[in-house]
Amino acid sequence: MSKPKVFVTRLIPEKGFEIVRDFCDVDLWPDELPPGRDDLLQHVRGADGLLCLLTDKIDGDVMDEAGPQLKVISNHAVGFDNIDVPAATARRIPVGNTPGVLTDATADFAFALMMAVARRIPESERYVHAGRWKTWGPMTLLGVDFKEATLGLVGFGRIGKAVARRALGFDMRVIYYDPGEKKSHPDLKARGVDFETLLAESDFISLHTPLTPDTRHLIDAEALSKMKPNAVLVNTARGPIVDPDALYEALKEERIFGAGLDVTDPEPLPLSSPLLTLDNLIIVPHVASASQTSREQMSWMAAQNLVAGLKGERLPNCVNPQVYSQK
Ligand code: DGY
Repeated sequence: MSKPKVFVTRLIPEKGFEIVRDFCDVDLWPDELPPGRDDLLQHVRGADGLLCLLTDKIDGDVMDEAGPQLKVISNHAVGFDNIDVPAATARRIPVGNTPGVLTDATADFAFALMMAVARRIPESERYVHAGRWKTWGPMTLLGVDFKEATLGLVGFGRIGKAVARRALGFDMRVIYYDPGEKKSHPDLKARGVDFETLLAESDFISLHTPLTPDTRHLIDAEALSKMKPNAVLVNTARGPIVDPDALYEALKEERIFGAGLDVTDPEPLPLSSPLLTLDNLIIVPHVASASQTSREQMSWMAAQNLVAGLKGERLPNCVNPQVYSQK
């Protein structure tokens, strides 16, 4: 019997790729850069399954170009704002994602970014390399304290809660804003508040919400103007949640202490971006989940979702389970 045909838009870690290779006839996009629109449309044609990354925009046209035999779209990411899920649901195509396995790596990284910004680590390193370290100075490169500071989490799902857990060890007070979270969390000593309160009371703000029409530019000029002057803002969620022009102005005028971005808008950030001129901003290339274990497990989950879909089974992690109740 012939194997199902799948298009894999980039090489994924071996743990998952091995499963895909064993079960499928694989068309693997060979480059480091994602396929352009024309290549995507050409390679998806006739595929039974698609394994894609967050850098691939998968809309209804891509699904139609694949053809009616397309059984599954498996995203190698927990976020799925790159996929038009309603379009997939309308075509009864299940969409898979990879929740859970990158929670700790991402929470660790959010904390690392908060610390790097608050304690000015990259700036301190530049100071040494530039030959400016002449002596120990009582007021050199002073940073923001963690102990008893308030951490405001925007989004209190898996990753937000994991960040809260880490904050307990730093004796921080944790508040969160998440309209979807109704339970209280005495174990995490975290208190739900409204958005205005979170902006006004937080010394650190870390974003852990998906990108939706409601969260696009949630952190805009107005939100930034309500933050404390010593506030540190960290984004490991999705770039467009923060308005980059407003952030630039706030940081340039030192209206907040600093920021750390794992994700930007656009991605990658062009070298001409004024954000890259700021000393109080750290930008890294969307690597919060980039630990070896987490990426291996993401590839394994993406492969499991793909194979389940190809077999006509329920995806272990499906973002549009309505496809299973459609008549
Ligand atoms: C995801 O899986 O959505 C992450 O952004 C990848 O780091």
